[in-house]
Amino acid sequence: MFCKSLSLMSKNLHEKPFDQATISKLEIFEDYAQAWIPTFVMYGDPMICIFDFFAGTGYDKDGVAGSPIRILQKLREQISAIFQKKVKVRVFFNEFDPEKYQQLSFACKDFLQEYPELGRAIELEIFNEDFGICFERLLPQIREYSSLVYLDQNGIRFLADKYLLELEKTTRTDFLYFVSSSYFWRFGNKEEFQSYVKLDMEEAKKRPYHYIHRSLIAQLRAKLPADSNLKLYPYSIKKGANIHGIIFGASHPRAVDKFLKTAWKRNDINGEANFDIDEDRQKGQLDIFEGKQLTKIESFQTRLREKVLDGSIIDNFDAYNFALDEAHLGSHAASELKKMKQEGLIDYHGRSPLATYEKVYKDKRRIVYQILQK
Ligand SMILES: C[S@@+](CC[C@H](N)C(=O)[O-])C[C@H]1O[C@@H](n2cnc3c(N)ncnc32)[C@H](O)[C@@H]1O
Repeated sequence: MFCKSLSLMSKNLHEKPFDQATISKLEIFEDYAQAWIPTFVMYGDPMICIFDFFAGTGYDKDGVAGSPIRILQKLREQISAIFQKKVKVRVFFNEFDPEKYQQLSFACKDFLQEYPELGRAIELEIFNEDFGICFERLLPQIREYSSLVYLDQNGIRFLADKYLLELEKTTRTDFLYFVSSSYFWRFGNKEEFQSYVKLDMEEAKKRPYHYIHRSLIAQLRAKLPADSNLKLYPYSIKKGANIHGIIFGASHPRAVDKFLKTAWKRNDINGEANFDIDEDRQKGQLDIFEGKQLTKIESFQTRLREKVLDGSIIDNFDAYNFALDEAHLGSHAASELKKMKQEGLIDYHGRSPLATYEKVYKDKRRIVYQILQK
């Protein structure tokens, strides 16, 4: 049974068209590249790097672009800025399967022939290596430069501590891991799984199955050093009966802000899944036994309100950071703070509570929320 699952994990995905769940994952990768590339090109770093360690063939059977081609497309959109800012852009793709590597090389060559100006704007290297070897080879560059790293593995193996904790040590890396989280549910107690990624399956199984990706991330967070700045966020993806997901990791609030905006744009009910993970759609109605259940956003806003009124959130820095820690947008905090001002509970200078990345981290403009009534 277990061996069968391992062979399933290495099934050749590109013999088939991408399914809807794969497209959702690719769109998140792509949306994040779209946000990341211009930010770092304009930021003034002399060199930025993008890594796609499990790059696949370039296109699926029907010619739909996979992650490497989507990265090239997003870089193409920023060509003028790349030339104008004279930023060096290094792109690294890796694919282990020799046949797929060939296809990938052809796909990239064709793309660069069609858009030769992109070939002048970036340096592209393509490897045909096992991830472990390629990761070790490229790690010095990940450590040195602002980097965007994609780890679109089949299965779970490469979530092992030796990779995750290495990424944790980098300071300018944003990464997106793909994990087949439901494999943990089914096989997580097996020795072979535990030898890759050690998790407490009893703990994970205390919560319903559809929370497996969330539970997995809660346990990964606990593995990070106590003083780590790395933040991890889940995005669960339902594929038939299985739950897979993306793990986003970054240590800079600018990156977290961008990821959360990408995630909430895809799902404005929970910002965390391609389905209604907390059954928020049913929470609008009054339940005769329990009253009205709070949606994810309402429950966050209730916690924020309590923290403002008990004095643990005193200004826009606290409010914005609280939103990011809870995987919410600054705008979710802002609408509650405005409501509290209208209700006469708090006061602050001006019309906006300034709970945004720009006001807090860029302009460093601090405003205090004064409590008027509790
Ligand atoms: C989920 S697919 C990636 C799909 C790709 N991101 C795309 O958009 O088409 C995972 C890929 O990793 C490759 N792979 C499997 N084991 C690997 C390993 N040990 N090192 C590197 N690549 C591997 C597989 O051949 C497969 O193409």
